[in-house]
Amino acid sequence: MAIGEIVLGSFLASFFQVLFDKLTSLTLGYAQQEGISTTLFEKWKGMLVTINAVLADAEDKQLSGNPLVKLWLDDVRDLAYDMEDLLDEFAIKAAQVESEAKSSTSRGMEKWKFSFFGQDKSSRLNPNPHLLVFETKVQEIIGRLKAIVTTKDHLSLRENVVDRSNYTNKRVPTTSLPEPWFFGREKEEAEILELLISEAKNSDAVLSILNIVPIVGMGGVGKTALAQQLYNDARVKSCFERRAWVCVSDVFYVFDITKAILQSITGLSCEGEDLNELQVKLKDSLYGKKFLVVLDDVWNEDYGKWTELFKPFEAGAKGSKIIVTTRNLPVVPMRGALPYPLEELSLDNCTSLLAFHALGATNFESHPDLEATGKKLAEKCKGLPLAAKMLGVALCNERNPDKWEAILNNKIWDLPKGKKR
Ligand SMILES: Nc1ncnc2c1ncn2[C@@H]1O[C@H](COP(=O)(O)OP(=O)(O)O)[C@@H](O)[C@H]1O
Ligand SMILES: [Mg+2]
Repeated sequence: MAIGEIVLGSFLASFFQVLFDKLTSLTLGYAQQEGISTTLFEKWKGMLVTINAVLADAEDKQLSGNPLVKLWLDDVRDLAYDMEDLLDEFAIKAAQVESEAKSSTSRGMEKWKFSFFGQDKSSRLNPNPHLLVFETKVQEIIGRLKAIVTTKDHLSLRENVVDRSNYTNKRVPTTSLPEPWFFGREKEEAEILELLISEAKNSDAVLSILNIVPIVGMGGVGKTALAQQLYNDARVKSCFERRAWVCVSDVFYVFDITKAILQSITGLSCEGEDLNELQVKLKDSLYGKKFLVVLDDVWNEDYGKWTELFKPFEAGAKGSKIIVTTRNLPVVPMRGALPYPLEELSLDNCTSLLAFHALGATNFESHPDLEATGKKLAEKCKGLPLAAKMLGVALCNERNPDKWEAILNNKIWDLPKGKKR
């Protein structure tokens, strides 16, 4: 299976999200504020929603070798790319006109406002050529969107298929065991260790807000892997009398999380007990102990659930800590908890990671013919270890430099344009 195809799935879905965000925040916000008709952009959005709904199924069918679906996805990708360019162009122009209008008279703005997308036909007597070009491009995109939606119907693509098991966004539940080969992150590890250990000595509160350490970053950047390293660090082990690891992921069930913590701490299974029994047992087993709990991949924003979960923690000793890994900081409820933003992995480490999974070595010494392409591929991963690992795994039985080159030249790489979500 070609890596470009694997990566296409997740990139296209992310790219759509970028488009939705831009359509909402930037374009529509500005256009509405200025009284510009947003109908055309709304049409874009409506059709994007329709296409988005069948993306997962299209990707599945593409992977099973359906050439028509592949062509269709190529069209979708090209279109998404053009839409984004146009939205960016529009945003720049809008900002320019706004500043010009502000610096001269309000007439500039009026002119802009009423000549845009035919709000006022009379202003067409003296139309702004840039805006006419925009209008033509927007209409052209609507035409392509319509064609894509029509073809979609002929391809019998199913909507909202949730089983995306072939893709990276479906990840296996995590455990506390660390990666056997972990690259870089020395500085991050040392800094978080400091937050976990040193601060604990000075902390007065039993469970103050400072006891939560949120590790925040985009998916695949390595939050879980870093938390695993910390969890297994000898200094952490000696600092905390009790440790528990819970993979939270999609659903935040207080019952399940409490049970997982209790099992992790006591090593006993707790079948058939209700939440009250679990909480009492957990409270007893944490009583007077300094503990560390890792809640991995948290999405929950419901404050009530957090407070319910934390009840038994109150019994713990000073300096107890909770590491929360999340893509989205607002999910962490305690105001004042200092987030630790996890940035991209360095290029050198991404290269080693890719080489490790592709060649079983941390460099290209035994495969000099693959080195240049390997390094360029690592650059394409833009600091995401998940991408480097996926590429490495996909290339692990491949020693033909032409095949490596072909992946490097796949136009899928044009898509993300370095955007973070
Ligand atoms: N520094 C690293 N060294 C080696 N592998 C890493 C590193 N960081 C992440 N990985 C691997 O990359 C993949 C994605 O990392 P993960 O920690 O799951 O990301 P996140 O939790 O931010 O979504 C995992 O398979 C992980 O083991
Ligand atoms: Mg994770």
